[in-house]
Amino acid sequence: MLSFLGFFREEGLMTVPIKRIAICTGGGDAPGLNAVIRAAAISAMDLGWECYGLREGFNGIFFSERYTDGGLIRLTRERVRGIAHLGGTILGTTNKGNPLHFPLKMPDGSVREVDRSDEILEFFARRQLDALISIGGDGSLTIADALARKGLRVVGVPKTIDNDLDKTFTTFGFDTAVGFATECLDRLHSTAESHQRVMVVEMMGRYAGWIALHAGISGSAHAVLIPEIPFDLDKVAAKIRSRDAQGRLYSLVVVAEGAQPRDGTRTVLEPAEAGQAERLGGMGDAVAKGLKNLTGKDTRLVVLGHLLRGGSPTTFDRLAALRFGAAAVRALAEGQSGIMVALAMGGVNHVPLAEVAGHMRCVPLDGDTLLTGRNLGICFGD
Ligand code: F6P
Repeated sequence: MLSFLGFFREEGLMTVPIKRIAICTGGGDAPGLNAVIRAAAISAMDLGWECYGLREGFNGIFFSERYTDGGLIRLTRERVRGIAHLGGTILGTTNKGNPLHFPLKMPDGSVREVDRSDEILEFFARRQLDALISIGGDGSLTIADALARKGLRVVGVPKTIDNDLDKTFTTFGFDTAVGFATECLDRLHSTAESHQRVMVVEMMGRYAGWIALHAGISGSAHAVLIPEIPFDLDKVAAKIRSRDAQGRLYSLVVVAEGAQPRDGTRTVLEPAEAGQAERLGGMGDAVAKGLKNLTGKDTRLVVLGHLLRGGSPTTFDRLAALRFGAAAVRALAEGQSGIMVALAMGGVNHVPLAEVAGHMRCVPLDGDTLLTGRNLGICFGD
């Protein structure tokens, strides 16, 4: 008899007609995850497939004994009813414990990274799951690519509030995050003006400045600092002074968490660990303190942090997510694997996972959004 892995390698799961699929949400949550789950589950059930959700990324597999349902939630029509508008994910998620670099504690207390991807394949064979829909950002899609290369039938769905994935016009979650950040800036104008203060607003986004740029321009910030443009704080202080000279005695400064000064480095709250990326944060604080010193103005810091990840998805994100979920099932039904569904001009298309994994999309410096900011007189610290 063939072992589970032998089954994958010699028979190839790709030849088996699909009867049962699993959906997995990995990495940080983003508004719209539940809409993908709903659309994928309903589309799959319509084809007569059974649909399951893996609990908390791949924890449902690695720690299945922890869950009363063995780490797999059966996604019935009842279970996915009324969830499209809900933030978060009904499956749970984690951005710790990347299966390709899983942290394993050694007897001497040290931590070693191990590749546990074969256990995922074994689980799929044992539980007779024929395909995986993996919803996630760069980390999850890199894992999906590795699993597809090992013979698992996988379709990826692009998710992240950061909007930093290549080969898709946008990711769901981004519009919701930008909408909320813009509303926060709208609210901060009046209080900043009343007190003649400098308001520094730090926003998530990892190594890309999409959220800060789009919200900063839409919310009429006066300076926007993004990772793509190393900044000189003196330039920002000069902008604030010039506004003061014109009688505009307050300023709003947006700082992407990944922004860095020309002569300095990014601020990191927690360094990378086995199976886990570094946690950025703190640049807003550094900028606020620096601007207070340079301008002598009363300065306050607002860190939007995880508020950007919460709440109901906007209509745009909800619809994109529903379209992605349905398209992922259609792709599987067409016999596709190793691809990601992506948003393009004409509609949803497919791109190879290999072209997405590890390819971060940053703000283009010659893009018209950035140029619009410059035309409006926004200072980018350069
Ligand atoms: O990738 C999404 C994101 O929200 C980033 O913008 C941010 O750097 C990171 O996740 C925060 O992760 P955590 O939830 O571990 O704090």
